[in-house]
Amino acid sequence: MASLGVNIDHIANVREARRTLEPDPVTMALLAELGGADGITVHLREDRRHIQDRDVDLLRQTVRSRLNLEMAATDEMVEIAMRVRPDMVTLVPERREEVTTEGGLDIAGQLPQLKGMVKRLHDAGVPVSLFVDPDPLQLRASRDSGARWVELHTGAYAVAAWTEQPRELARLTEATAFSRSIGLRVNAGHGLTYQNVEPVAAIEGMEELNIGHTIVARAVAVGLKTAVSEMRSLVQNPRRETLFASQS
Ligand code: PXP
Repeated sequence: MASLGVNIDHIANVREARRTLEPDPVTMALLAELGGADGITVHLREDRRHIQDRDVDLLRQTVRSRLNLEMAATDEMVEIAMRVRPDMVTLVPERREEVTTEGGLDIAGQLPQLKGMVKRLHDAGVPVSLFVDPDPLQLRASRDSGARWVELHTGAYAVAAWTEQPRELARLTEATAFSRSIGLRVNAGHGLTYQNVEPVAAIEGMEELNIGHTIVARAVAVGLKTAVSEMRSLVQNPRRETLFASQS
């Protein structure tokens, strides 16, 4: 059964739209936990466009589930992670112009640097996950980096036309099985919604889904606690019959 990590960056996006104090992602993390979040995820971007250093420090003190810090693979961020000691660091690619994280990390293309960072974080007692596309080359390189976890990028599945979705789901399913066969543990996320989450949550061996935008969007209508609780039910009890059966 997969667990649910709730990404609260989008709450900070609303706050930063007015550069004010509300809504406060730290308070909202508590509501997400009351709704059943198994973990809280934040992305401290280099340009600090949403989550701020103050948020990360306070979340470290207040989160009672697990704090997953997403960050770019830079020395500045590694220093912050070694000081804050989140329950997990997820290394993600970052480009300033992007609206959200696009594509997975190129692990194979920067293996020596990543190996060094993974080791520094492990030596500080911080487990490391790598955000990667469901591609065997990148998964093998992830294992070679020393990381014990990967987070599979579900973006291609999320944006696929319905005729292509079964193929993208199969890529995620195969990538999960392959990762586990080489000793990696598997999370996934990006672009998942109340409509498309169940087939991914039902993948054998999937441990955690990190979901943000759709939950915050729903929270506007029903409140964050309810939005998290509804998503957690889908993640923990996905329909097992294939949702794509009508196409075959
Ligand atoms: N996982 C990673 C690595 C991400 O960068 C993001 C987006 O911040 C998410 C999960 C959550 O994506 P979404 O907001 O589309 O649910």
